[in-house]
Amino acid sequence: MKKILIVGAGGQIGSELTYHLRKIYGASNVVASDIRRTPGITDDGPFEVLDVLEAQRLAFLVHKYNIDTIFNLVALLSATGEKNPIGAWRINMGALMNTLEVATSFGCSVFTPSSIGAFGPNSPKDKTPQDTVMRPTTMYGVCKVSGELLGDYYHQRFGLDTRSVRFPGIISNVTLPGGGTTDYAVEIFYEAIKNKRFTCPVPENSYMDMMYMPDALNACVQLMEADPSKLKHRNSFNIASMSFTPEIIYKAIKKRMPEFEMTYDIDPVKAAIADSWPNMLDDTCAREEWGWAPKWDLESMTDDMLKIIGQKYKDGLLK
Ligand code: SER
Repeated sequence: MKKILIVGAGGQIGSELTYHLRKIYGASNVVASDIRRTPGITDDGPFEVLDVLEAQRLAFLVHKYNIDTIFNLVALLSATGEKNPIGAWRINMGALMNTLEVATSFGCSVFTPSSIGAFGPNSPKDKTPQDTVMRPTTMYGVCKVSGELLGDYYHQRFGLDTRSVRFPGIISNVTLPGGGTTDYAVEIFYEAIKNKRFTCPVPENSYMDMMYMPDALNACVQLMEADPSKLKHRNSFNIASMSFTPEIIYKAIKKRMPEFEMTYDIDPVKAAIADSWPNMLDDTCAREEWGWAPKWDLESMTDDMLKIIGQKYKDGLLK
């Protein structure tokens, strides 16, 4: 990776991945793009407004900056996708198809995240294998499985260097996620610090895979830098670091903030989605093929999140 384009750079992952890649590869070598200007990522390196559904503009930017690697992070998440399934298909698949086509024309490598949402109710729930039944029941999941298949197809058919991981819910403290089933695991920290209470939309015993953002960022870089001759899989690798229920994360926060209280107001759409997803993925292939090794667990992540978000409220950066 020498010249990188991030598409959807204003989102939860993109806003931090832009900063992370600029530190490693140099600010001028990482071009951020999004449908609108996004404070933060526009300041310290090149930024372009891009509606990724306009393939010609995507091709123009790849040519203009001599891009060799595209990170396509555009997606409507699972709960939003159920409100607007056709829109989710149009945006999620449109972004991916344009990325794959432009990348094929210019010989770029492509990273597009897949998700735990690519699995469905008849996938094995515990230690979900790398290669197993994938029959998701959300439009988000249908797009993710289709994206995985397309990534492998473009690799086999056109020799395109496509790589991907199945991200769990990502926990972060810079940009909020929006419209996902796992969002509660981010929102809980902001509400705990601000209001000392949180109303959880996901049932108390729903296990889902989660990951702290620094591990997610390392996964992107490590996989894209991996020796291709070692990769038996490409689209897409299971990765995992922690799995918990709302009750478990509530207790982890309450241990550090005894006054914190949580109640439930279940969102039936999110409950059904959470119920259809695995409890915890088996990430053996990622460990063996490219050395995946997460550093953060529930305890260290909880400490760090409370410290960083607490400081933002103290400094008046959040109200
Ligand atoms: N965070 C996503 C969602 O909840 C899952 O990949 O939709």
